[in-house]
Amino acid sequence: MNEIIEKIKDEFQKEAQAIKHWKDLEAFRVKFLGRKGLVSAAFERIGEIPKEQRPLFGKALNELKKELENEYQKLLETFKGQAEKTHRLDLTLPGRKPFAGGRHPLLKVADEIKDIFRSLGFSIEDGPEIENDFYNFEALNIPKTHPARDMQDTLYITDDILLRTHTSPVQIRVMKRQKPPIQMIAPGRVYRRDTPDASHSPFFHQVEGLVVDKGISFADLKGVIQAFAHRMFGSDIKVRFRPSFFPFTEPSAEYDFSCVFCKGKGCRVCKNTGWMEISGAGMVHPNVFKAAGVDPDVYTGYAFGMGIDRIAMIKYAIDDIRIFFENDIRFLNQF
Ligand code: DAH
Repeated sequence: MNEIIEKIKDEFQKEAQAIKHWKDLEAFRVKFLGRKGLVSAAFERIGEIPKEQRPLFGKALNELKKELENEYQKLLETFKGQAEKTHRLDLTLPGRKPFAGGRHPLLKVADEIKDIFRSLGFSIEDGPEIENDFYNFEALNIPKTHPARDMQDTLYITDDILLRTHTSPVQIRVMKRQKPPIQMIAPGRVYRRDTPDASHSPFFHQVEGLVVDKGISFADLKGVIQAFAHRMFGSDIKVRFRPSFFPFTEPSAEYDFSCVFCKGKGCRVCKNTGWMEISGAGMVHPNVFKAAGVDPDVYTGYAFGMGIDRIAMIKYAIDDIRIFFENDIRFLNQF
């Protein structure tokens, strides 16, 4: 009886001393203390010994089990440091990817537009989103009673202060602070009292362009718009100008690009016209020059608008402007 117990103890001690690595601990535990381990096996031999000795043997085995369990706990403690260190330095684990944000598609398109115009010699200008009536309307040849004020539904803060309805007021600010030659674009956010739908949002983004110098003509405007169209959408894109009206330009035009999807053949996106409306443009009206302190007898100039959201929708084939502003990570992740 004692032999069996002593044998297990001896073996346990010997093997315990031989353990060098925490990874060997579990196999060691299973061998002695597992459900099919040596201690359990000894319990099963209880039938081999005389009946009257069995209670004693059982008691001795229980004590052995407790003792070995205690020893095993101590061993665990000894190797704890080693195990933790090894876990921390497990170089075989795959790395954790840091979550990297991306640039919003509208910012990317705005950057592209800026790069194109910068390479054509334009400067990048900025103006406030909270404007006053003078810059947003009056100086752009849109007096208070002018019906053109109805072209844009305005969000007023006071009678005189408003959220700019277009980026055109930046023209005035730049002409007031800088003498010609001027060759600038002004990208930025604009606001209108519109009910949101697939093509309307209460705020969206425009780029205003303005070139002022001696001898600037409509042909210069056409050349720049065409250069932009080719750089943005490819050299097979055609540009067309249609007569139109804007109070701040004379003559005024609206310009279209041939449909980038069907190349002008006519498709669902361009409603079978072969063309996509982009925005307006024209020669700066003398009244605008006067309001901004530029002499219209000396200088001429052209101006144009452009919708950043619209260009992005064309570029990425997006049919609902609202998706830009919903911050849906599944949409944004695609850029
Ligand atoms: N400001 C106009 C708008 O928001 C766009 C525009 C048209 C700008 C003609 C111009 C221009 O500079 O010449 O609809």
